[in-house]
Amino acid sequence: TSSLPVYSQEEVTKHSSLDQGVWVTYKGSVYDITDFVAKHPGGDKILLAAGGALEPFWALYAIHGQDHVLEILSEYKVGVL
Ligand code: HEM
Repeated sequence: TSSLPVYSQEEVTKHSSLDQGVWVTYKGSVYDITDFVAKHPGGDKILLAAGGALEPFWALYAIHGQDHVLEILSEYKVGVL
């Protein structure tokens, strides 16, 4: 049912600042989290993942392994890798 665009890692990497937009990847999907950065309970740390994968950071901050966090993330999906 998904017809979201396919993005390359290179395109994702271009979006690694609030000016360019902040995109991240998680399990093969691409998320534009620009509008979530200011709402993040963990503050600016979220920008460490900008332009890349969430997995290494969420492995460190296991608080993200909850359904309510994944629900938030799902709202920002813009494509697939
Ligand atoms: C906490 C979402 C990325 C570090 C949280 C919480 C949410 C959230 C909802 C609160 C969880 C709770 O209390 O139940 C997200 C989303 C992310 C993201 C949607 C990506 C799109 C990151 C990254 C890092 C990070 C990349 C670190 C590099 C933290 C930390 C907390 C936190 C340290 C705990 C804050 C505290 O309770 O003092 N995040 N997060 N987050 N996040 Fe994230």
